[in-house]
Formats: sequence, structure tokens, C-alpha cells
Amino acid sequence: MKKVVLITGANRGIGLEAARQMKAKNYDVILTSRNADEGERAARDLGVSFHQLDVLSAKSIDALKSHVETEFGHLDALINNAGILIDRNDHILDIPEEKLRKTLDTNTYAPLALTRAFLPMMIAQNYGRIVNVSSVLGQISSFNDYTPAYRLSKLALNGITIMLADAVKGKNILINAVHPGWVKTDMGGAEAPLGLDAGARGLVWAATLPDDGPQGGFFQDGKRMDW
Ligand SMILES: NC(=O)c1ccc[n+]([C@@H]2O[C@H](COP(=O)([O-])OP(=O)(O)OC[C@H]3O[C@@H](n4cnc5c(N)ncnc54)[C@H](OP(=O)(O)O)[C@@H]3O)[C@@H](O)[C@H]2O)c1
Repeated sequence: MKKVVLITGANRGIGLEAARQMKAKNYDVILTSRNADEGERAARDLGVSFHQLDVLSAKSIDALKSHVETEFGHLDALINNAGILIDRNDHILDIPEEKLRKTLDTNTYAPLALTRAFLPMMIAQNYGRIVNVSSVLGQISSFNDYTPAYRLSKLALNGITIMLADAVKGKNILINAVHPGWVKTDMGGAEAPLGLDAGARGLVWAATLPDDGPQGGFFQDGKRMDW
């Protein structure tokens, strides 16, 4: 039976490239995006399946869960890739609370909600790989006041990764945080040194780990990073 992977925010950027690479590894890919037209087009071009998902909507997560249960019956890997960076010009003293909340909702609580939705299926089959796409900007050892909401959201995502890994230990479910590197995308910008191929590689590595692979760590391109 082919393994199934679900990727959030996969209509463009690193998520779309991860979908391409997972398909090349012979996975059934469920490409998701909040904009149905863009996602459907991307999925059609790649030859993978599509389902709409706004990671901020509990209703949307529930509908996706039902779809996966009925259409696939199992989920082997979840790549929590969707993310936003909307506070490049803000500082911790005056960033609007709304921006803090929207960033934490999208980058931190949504990956947790998706993990909670799909973990029972993974536990039932004693197999699962969950990749939380994090960032070096969430590394507490290099914290400063640049992009305060984004930093906090990825720091908290790293914390959630450690907690989830502890919560599922002994169950052959490997949950790790991955920094893709600084990648040329809408978010990363044109100055970024890495292309999509290199950016998605570390996500795919973590999504396809062998049973004795690492658990609850923070990685870039398969190499462990400090928190
Ligand atoms: N690029 C880098 O240098 C870099 C570095 C470190 C970490 N990262 C992380 O890598 C991941 C992918 O980033 P990227 O560079 O590929 O960014 P991107 O090109 O801006 O793509 C972000 C993706 O997230 C989706 N998204 C945002 N909010 C969503 C929501 N509420 N529901 C569903 N999808 C949503 C976007 O969908 P729409 O098209 O609908 O907006 C888009 O598909 C992010 O988690 C980011 O934090 C990137």
C-alpha cells in the first residue's frame, strides 16, 4: 500500500516543492491550500490529489479529516508547512496584538490542531511522521527584537514539537521541527541563497525517517540544530 502524506500551504513555495519531492518518493500526496483554485491548479500540474484547507478554521480541519478517513483510510506523514511572516517592521514594544495573535494562530496553534486531528489515525497504525516547519528565527539562542511575532510563533512551535514527541513516545510516530534554510520564496525573498529544491529536502527527510530515526529534534537538511 502506498504511503500517504498531507502537506499544508502547498499551493506555492516550499510546500509545493515538498509535494513534488514526496510524489517522486512514491507517496500519495494530498496537497492542501486555503485558495481552492490555486491549490487545484497546482495539484493538477503535479498529478496529485487536492483538498481545501484553511489552517485557521476548525471546520476546515474537520472536513479534511473526514475526507482523509473516507478517501484514504490512513495518513502516514503530515507536513505542517503553512506559515506567515507579517511583522518585519514591528517591534515587541508596539506590535499590534492582532498581528501577534494571527501569527501564533497560523504558525503555532494550527500545526498543533492538525497534529491532534491526525494523530489518532497514526497511533492506530503504529506509524507516523510529523514535520513542523520551523525557522532559525525561532532559535532562542539567537533571539532579538526582529520579527517578534514570527520568532515567538516558531519558538513555541519548537516547544510543542518537544512536548508532542514526548506524548507519543514508544508509538513509532516521529515528530520533528525542521528549518528549511533561507529559501527563495514569497516569504524568503529574492535575496535568499537557497532554491526550493534544497529548501524542501530537509522536510522530506524528516517526513520519511526510518523507524529508528530521531524524535523531537530540530534539524536543517538532516543535521541537528540548537534550540
Ligand atoms: N522561505 C524561507 O526562507 C523560510 C525560512 C524559514 C522557515 N520558513 C517556513 O517555511 C514554511 C513555508 O514558507 P515559504 O517560504 O514557502 O512561504 P510562502 O511562499 O509565503 O508560502 C506560505 C504558504 O503558507 C500558506 N498559508 C498561510 N496562511 C495559511 C492559512 N491560514 N491556511 C492555509 N495556508 C496558509 C500560504 O497560502 P496562500 O498562498 O493562500 O497565502 C502559502 O501556501 C513556513 O512555515 C515558513 O515559516 C521559510
